[in-house]
Amino acid sequence: MKKHSKGRRNLLIVAAGTAAMASGLATLLVLSRLPGSAAGALLRPGDRSVVSLGNEIYAEHCASCHGRSLEGHPTWQVRDAQGYLPAPPHDETGHTWHHPDKLLFDITKLGVAEAAKLERYQTRMPAFEGILTDEEIIAALSFIKAQWPERIRERHDEMNRHLQKRQGAGE
Ligand code: HEC
Repeated sequence: MKKHSKGRRNLLIVAAGTAAMASGLATLLVLSRLPGSAAGALLRPGDRSVVSLGNEIYAEHCASCHGRSLEGHPTWQVRDAQGYLPAPPHDETGHTWHHPDKLLFDITKLGVAEAAKLERYQTRMPAFEGILTDEEIIAALSFIKAQWPERIRERHDEMNRHLQKRQGAGE
């Protein structure tokens, strides 16, 4: 009988230990997401190593069209002779920051047509799936976001939070 109750106590201790470990793991997971990223966010403009990788990727894969300083093509709002839109700026004068992280990611990875569900949309913006990894795409976009003024970054964070809440509510 004594042995039995000791056994039960041990079982309880193991159970309590497992619960503590699980909650410790959850805390770790939450913490590991913190550096440089806000709620509902994929981009990590506050993480210096991500931003510095993104700077290299941007220079190699994006700057030729979107401009070394994110300035875009000078006539980006006017379609060219073939009917294509030139590359827009990624700085605060463009509308990149009007889109939440997930959409920016999808546009870059899958292309504008797929991301915006526009079947026959013609564009010069390449889809980077198979060229860049997901991490590299996130890095390039994080670099872009890190260049925006503080107030634009805050409005963008707010947009991500808002979207996360709506999706959380099943809308
Ligand atoms: C060959 C030229 C070219 C390259 C290279 C290029 N883009 Fe683009 N990008 C465009 C064009 C053109 C558009 C406008 C798309 C449209 O609506 O036709 C665009 C649009 C975008 C948009 C949507 C912006 C908005 O305001 O809606 C994002 C995001 C974007 N590009 C990200 C990137 C990233 C990140 C890279 C590098 C990994 C990149 N692009 C490389 C030409 C390019």
